[in-house]
Amino acid sequence: MILILGDNNDAHSALVADILKSKKEDFCFLDTRLYPENILIKWNPDENNEGYLKIKNKKINFKDIKSVYWRNFNGIKFERINNDAYLTDMIYRERKSALFSLFYSLKTNWCNSVEAFEIHQKKAYALHLMKENNIRIPRTLVTNDKNSIKEFFEQNNGEIIVKPVLGGAYTEKLTKRALTKSRLETLYKVPAKFQEYIDGEDVRVYVYKNGIYALKINSKTVDFREDRNAKYTKIKLPKKVIKDCYKVMEILKLKYSGIDIRLNKNGEYVFIEANPAPMFIFIDRITKYPLIDSLIDMLINP
Ligand SMILES: Nc1ncnc2c1ncn2[C@@H]1O[C@H](COP(=O)(O)OP(=O)(O)O)[C@@H](O)[C@H]1O
Ligand SMILES: [Mg+2]
Repeated sequence: MILILGDNNDAHSALVADILKSKKEDFCFLDTRLYPENILIKWNPDENNEGYLKIKNKKINFKDIKSVYWRNFNGIKFERINNDAYLTDMIYRERKSALFSLFYSLKTNWCNSVEAFEIHQKKAYALHLMKENNIRIPRTLVTNDKNSIKEFFEQNNGEIIVKPVLGGAYTEKLTKRALTKSRLETLYKVPAKFQEYIDGEDVRVYVYKNGIYALKINSKTVDFREDRNAKYTKIKLPKKVIKDCYKVMEILKLKYSGIDIRLNKNGEYVFIEANPAPMFIFIDRITKYPLIDSLIDMLINP
């Protein structure tokens, strides 16, 4: 049994499901929005992998779960209870604690693990961990004090970008004019992440158990996802960069990943982030790298 954490409306989850089906591998979606109404969980934390999930009445013993493909954690149902904020919040926290305790305890081939996702959600911490391990990252500032930005702007010769601390918006170059704009006035409410702008090209590296696949992305926008005419070229990485990729995987507890790197004009590889559930369908198709096969292989042959 292979669990797909996510749902059929997501292209990646749906594709993985289709392939598992064609290979006659037993699988089931675990869509956490169905918890608790349509997902029952029984387990004994004092024992090893003792328990079961009942997803829409399909019983899955923990012992039979070979792998988990963690694509999307769809969140946990948040229900307002009689306008009682305390009770509402408490029920939510109880549900979340039960589910996450299980994610941490269940011994199986997690691709990727809850630890890896928790680190990734604290992206600035992930950067800090990389830096502590001598991985080259951009100079970075996380702040909700707008007065600290001017200084950072000058330190980096006016070449900085801004992006969310966690995610959900594209990376933008910050101009001097933007610095005086009123949007900085809202910064004290919502912190943001500022970085030296790494002038150069995007490199994406897919790391799997059995292979490492790198490509260069030439785009006309700061964030390549905004450029529909971006060009994708396969490349070979220097040995030192391959070593750093594996080091990043270890530090961030990743079993496989899509790592974002910027290659600057001096030929330095600057690490941006390592994604625990990277998209791969489009890149697999364009480059013919065996990204889909590699993931499926990891799930079927742990
Ligand atoms: N410091 C930077 N300098 C130049 N480009 C950057 C920088 N940080 C991010 N980018 C560009 O923006 C993209 C998205 O940033 P990233 O940190 O990976 O956030 P996301 O979570 O949105 O993927 C990167 O792949 C890269 O193209
Ligand atoms: Mg990214």
